Amino acid sequence: MLLQGKRGIIFGALDEKSIAWKIAERAKQEGATFTLSNAPVALRMGGIQRLAEQCNTTVIAADATNTDELKIVFEQSVEVLGGKIDFVLHSIGMSPNVRKNRDYINLNYAFYAQTLDVSAMSFHKILQTAWHLDALNEGASVVALSYIAAQRAFPGYGDMADAKAALESIARSFGYHYGLHRKVRINTISQSPTATTAGTGIKGFDDFFDYANKMSPLGNATSEACADYCIALFSDLTRMVTMQNLFHDGGFSSVGMNPRLLE
Ligand SMILES: NC(=O)c1ccc[n+]([C@@H]2O[C@H](COP(=O)([O-])OP(=O)(O)OC[C@H]3O[C@@H](n4cnc5c(N)ncnc54)[C@H](O)[C@@H]3O)[C@@H](O)[C@H]2O)c1
Repeated sequence: MLLQGKRGIIFGALDEKSIAWKIAERAKQEGATFTLSNAPVALRMGGIQRLAEQCNTTVIAADATNTDELKIVFEQSVEVLGGKIDFVLHSIGMSPNVRKNRDYINLNYAFYAQTLDVSAMSFHKILQTAWHLDALNEGASVVALSYIAAQRAFPGYGDMADAKAALESIARSFGYHYGLHRKVRINTISQSPTATTAGTGIKGFDDFFDYANKMSPLGNATSEACADYCIALFSDLTRMVTMQNLFHDGGFSSVGMNPRLLE
């Protein structure tokens, strides 16, 4: 019961494969209460209502690029949960360029702006909204999910690489201010390739998944393992961890070469 008595908001559970879905299930097991939020279109397409029933919670629709809608998410969450928020998960990513197979050289700039807004700036918008509403409790923990393309070139990841670099930078920059302001911790988890709707949308996902799996001494980290790690970050056990990008990748990020890949 690591999260007993804690209130949270989980953004980005679409279906059973979503990493946010697994995190919601684990948070429930650990005694947390929380609301779920996703874009209106995702609410129509996905299975989030099923998750809400399972977790006995409320779904609040919001496009994470729209600060008016985010304000409603925080206000309603504080109301239905009965107090300020202790943890927030940002599990949101989308690139129209990747979806439409536009490679990095030939990015469409309107799409590029959308990628950055949905996948990175939305994190700043969530934090700014929480700040102005004073919606987070002292010592609250905020986590966003990232990918190692923020540090290294992964050609198929397109403009999402730039979005992840911005996302990780926002965690550091906002983490500084929110740490001083309310001792709020802000971190990113850099997760292994995972077979979700967003993940499998990346060109060549299956080959790349196998490559990363062979390269990592522990193999790829599953979404269930990611949920465990996230719960640890939401809990008080990690109360002095902030402004970090934390690799959760079975060791992938520290390996130069693994002979089993050559075999
Ligand atoms: N799957 C992977 O291989 C992998 C690896 C590392 C990091 N991540 C990151 O994990 C996070 C979750 O992705 P996932 O793999 O669980 O896939 P997913 O497709 O299940 O989740 C992506 C979510 O983003 C939501 N979203 C898109 N546009 C939105 C908007 N405008 N407003 C609000 N929500 C919006 C979608 O509805 C969906 O719920 C993403 O940030 C992703 O980049 C994924």
